[in-house]
Amino acid sequence: LKKIAIVTRDCAGVNATIRSIVRTAFKYNVDVVGVKRGYSGLIDNDFIKLDRRSVSGIINQGGTILKTSRCKRFYNEKAQQKAVANIHNNQIDGLIVVGGNGSFSAAHILATKYNIPLVGIPATIDNDINSVDISIGADTAVNVALDALDKIRDTATSLERIFIVEVMGRSCGYIALEVGLAGGCEEVLIPELDLDIDIICYEIIKGSKIGKASWIIIVAEGKAHASNIANEISKKTGLETRVAVLGHIQRGGRPTANDRILGAQLGNYAVELLIEGLKNICVCIKNNKPTHIPLNEAIKSKQLDVYSKYKLIKILT
Ligand code: F6P
Repeated sequence: LKKIAIVTRDCAGVNATIRSIVRTAFKYNVDVVGVKRGYSGLIDNDFIKLDRRSVSGIINQGGTILKTSRCKRFYNEKAQQKAVANIHNNQIDGLIVVGGNGSFSAAHILATKYNIPLVGIPATIDNDINSVDISIGADTAVNVALDALDKIRDTATSLERIFIVEVMGRSCGYIALEVGLAGGCEEVLIPELDLDIDIICYEIIKGSKIGKASWIIIVAEGKAHASNIANEISKKTGLETRVAVLGHIQRGGRPTANDRILGAQLGNYAVELLIEGLKNICVCIKNNKPTHIPLNEAIKSKQLDVYSKYKLIKILT
C-alpha cells in the first residue's frame, strides 16, 4: 500500500480520526490525500496532500477540515466512473470513508462494483450504523443536546412550563432517547415508537392536578415537528407550552474525550487493516477492542433497542 485517500462527513471527532489516519500512515511510509467536500471531490478530482504537520492542532476541532457535501451526483453511473478514474489516476490504492449511512452506501458501491480497497469508519451523530455500538460524533451530539436541555430546564422549572425540545435524528431516535434519559425528561417521541398525544395530554393533566407543573418532552425531528406537538398539547390541556429546536448545534462542537479516543483508535486500525490487505469492511469497537465487520452488514438498517431505555424514562418520571 503506497497511497490512501480519506473521504469524510462532518461531526465531532472526524478531525481526530483524520489526524490518526495520517499519522499512522506516516509510521508505515504510506502517503495520504484528503478528498475535498466528500464524494464531490472524488468526482471533481479535488484532493489535498496531508502530512503529519497538516493535521496539527485539529484533535479538538469539530466538523471536518476536508469540508464535505451531500453528493447526490454520486448515484449517477458516469459520476461513479469519473470518481474511480480519479482514484486510479492519482495512484490511490486504498480509500477510507469516515461517515454515516449515506457515505457508507456510496462506499459499498465503490468497493463492490469497482473493486476499490476500502475501509469504512462509522461517524454519525444518529448512531445508526448497523452492528456498531457507538459511532464517532454520537457522544458529543448527546452531550451538546444535554447541555442545552439542562439550560432549558432552568426556565421550565422556574416558570412551571411545558417545553417541547426537538433534537436531530431523521429516522432514528438515538439522540432523543439518550438525552431523554440523561436529562430526566418526562416523555420522548421517536420514530421507533407510536405516538399517542391523547395519552401524553392525559398524563400532563393528571400530573398538574397533583402539583406537577413543569414538563420536558423530547421529540426526534424524524417523528414530528416540536411546534405541532406543542400546539396540540396546548389545545388539549389548556396549558402554556414553549418550543426549542436544537438543530445543527448537535453536529458541531468540541469533541468529547470519548469521540477523540474513538477517532484515534478507529483511524489507526483502519490504516493497519488496509495495509494487511483487508477491504470492504467497517471498523468498530467491541468489548473495548477494535474489530471489523463486513461493509454490507454495516449498511443494513439498524434496529435501535428502544424499549428498555424508554421504560426506564417512564419509571423515573
Ligand atoms: O445524518 C445526520 C443528520 O445530522 C441527521 O440527524 C439530520 O436529520 C441530518 O443529518 C441533517 O442533514 P443536513 O445537515 O444535510 O440538513
